[in-house]
Amino acid sequence: MNIPKLAAEQKKHLGIIGCQISHSLSPIMHNTVIQTLNLPMVYGVMDVTEEMLPSLISSMRSLHFRGANVTIPYKQIIMKYLDEISEEAEKIGAVNTIVNNNGRLIGHNTDVWGVYLSLQPYANEIKNNHVIIFGAGGATKATVFAVAKFFSPRYISIVNRTAGKAHQIINHFSPQYRLTKFSHLETELDIQREIEVAALVINTTSVGMKPNIHAMPISPNIVLQKNQLVFDIVYNPVETSFLKLAKSVEARTIGGVEMLLGQGARAFELWTHQEFPMSAARAVLTQELTNPNGE
Ligand code: ATR
Repeated sequence: MNIPKLAAEQKKHLGIIGCQISHSLSPIMHNTVIQTLNLPMVYGVMDVTEEMLPSLISSMRSLHFRGANVTIPYKQIIMKYLDEISEEAEKIGAVNTIVNNNGRLIGHNTDVWGVYLSLQPYANEIKNNHVIIFGAGGATKATVFAVAKFFSPRYISIVNRTAGKAHQIINHFSPQYRLTKFSHLETELDIQREIEVAALVINTTSVGMKPNIHAMPISPNIVLQKNQLVFDIVYNPVETSFLKLAKSVEARTIGGVEMLLGQGARAFELWTHQEFPMSAARAVLTQELTNPNGE
């Protein structure tokens, strides 16, 4: 599918803001649902450097712009340019959706809904159990928030390349969720010990995303467990190397497509006040991920 250009003046503009996002499927997903509902809108790609953010944001205040998604690596830095942050996004500390309300830009977080949809079938297994989360970025914050709020685990342990960011997340969420114990895992031995007792392991980093499909968020020395739940929020490729590793030990895997659909549906409803046609979106994503570029 060709992504329509953002020049069609009569249409309301939507898009995704990020860096190195040529493999994002949000444009195909949203343009498909826009066409399904026959809306006068168009969704484009805004692949920008950090220096370009202020001018991009001020141009978004034009009435032609209805809103945007925000992705790696801007989910946190974008917040300071917006006029208002929803209560939930404020609690999370990250924004993945912007709505232009007559020139006022409002930041929301719909990743939370994507995480909820992905994990809801396993709620009983997560409650009162251990969860290990790899990463400490904006997507991690929404994941920690959703897991702690909706599934009440006993422990959440964070593993991240940059230890300071893991500590920031723990300091941010510990006071909000007093019944959940938060910790930071650094050594391979600590990670392995926790993996052995964890009900759920989640990758929230971008590691393994196309084109770097052989990369993995965990050391090859770490052994995942049979029957353990392993969730990767990366959706492209549909089965990441991390999920392949999990399958090789008979862990149960959860891919990132539900997360993409869930966050996209909520964002779309905020922009259009119309119900998101989930089956049309799911069909186009399945087609793209199983047969990219018509190959
Ligand atoms: P987002 O806000 O979209 O989640 P982000 O804030 O840039 O994006 O966070 C990306 C996450 O992926 C971070 O946890 C990052 O680790 P650092 O905090 O150490 O930067 C992690 N990440 C990205 N590339 C990585 C890599 N090659 N190896 C390990 N972690 C990586």
